[in-house]
Amino acid sequence: MTTTIGIIGSGNIGGTLAIALTRAGHEVVVANSRGPESLGAVVAELGDLASAGTVAEAAHAGEIVVVAVPLWALASIPSDLLEGRIVIDTNNYYPGRDGAIAELDARETTTSELVARHFAGARVVKAFNHIPAREILTHAQPAGSDGRRALAVYADDADARDRVAALIDEIGFDVVDGGALTDSWRIERDQPGYIPHFTVEQLRGKLAEAQR
Ligand SMILES: NC(=O)c1ccc[n+]([C@@H]2O[C@H](COP(=O)([O-])OP(=O)(O)OC[C@H]3O[C@@H](n4cnc5c(N)ncnc54)[C@H](OP(=O)(O)O)[C@@H]3O)[C@@H](O)[C@H]2O)c1
Repeated sequence: MTTTIGIIGSGNIGGTLAIALTRAGHEVVVANSRGPESLGAVVAELGDLASAGTVAEAAHAGEIVVVAVPLWALASIPSDLLEGRIVIDTNNYYPGRDGAIAELDARETTTSELVARHFAGARVVKAFNHIPAREILTHAQPAGSDGRRALAVYADDADARDRVAALIDEIGFDVVDGGALTDSWRIERDQPGYIPHFTVEQLRGKLAEAQR
C-alpha cells in the first residue's frame, strides 16, 4: 500500500530515507529549514513520488512523519504540528553538536522521550538512529535473506510501532521491538547496538548488554 510520508529534515538521514521510501513506492514530501525552493534538485533526483514542501506541508502530508533534524533544532519546530501523527524519530544526542542537555547527561530521560514531550499528542517511534545513513541503502536486503540486518524500534504506541516496523521491513531490514520509549537508552549513542551491522539475534543480545 502506498503511503505518503512527510520528512522534516532532508540532510543525511532524511535525504537517504527519502530515497529508500520512494524506491519502495511511497510518496514523500520533504522539508528543510530553508524552504521548498532550496530542494528542487533533491526532489528532481528522487523522481515523481517526491515533492518539496514547507515544514507544515510535510507535517500534514500523511499520517507518518519522519523527524530528521538535529536535536538542537527540535525546539524550532512548532510543538503542536504533529499532533496525532506517527513520528519516526531518528535523533541522537551529541553534546558537542546539540549543546549540553542536563536531563540526558543525568540519564533521567531519553532523546526520544524529549521528542515525544516536545510534539504533544504525537505517536513517537524511535528508529534509524543507530544506522549510518548511507547503509540504509547499501545494507538493505529482501526479507528472508541470510544475515539480514536488524534495526531496533522503540515506541509507547503499539499500532505506531507496527506501522513503522512494516516500513522498515519493506525498505530492507528485520526489526527488533525494543519496548517503550523509556527503554530506548539501550540503543542510544555509544551503546553496544549503536552503529554496527547486527542480525535480529545479535541485536537482541546487544540491547540486553547495554548499560546506562
Ligand atoms: N547522519 C547519519 O548517518 C545519521 C544516522 C542516524 C541518525 N542520525 C541523527 O539524525 C539527526 C539528523 O542528522 P543528519 O545527519 O541527517 O543531519 P543533517 O545532515 O545536518 O541534516 C539536518 C536537516 O535538518 C534540517 N533542519 C534543521 N533545522 C530545521 C528546522 N527547524 N526545520 C526544518 N528542517 C530543519 C536541515 O535543513 P537545512 O539544511 O535547510 O538547514 C537539514 O535538512 C541527528 O540527530 C543525527 O544524530 C544521523
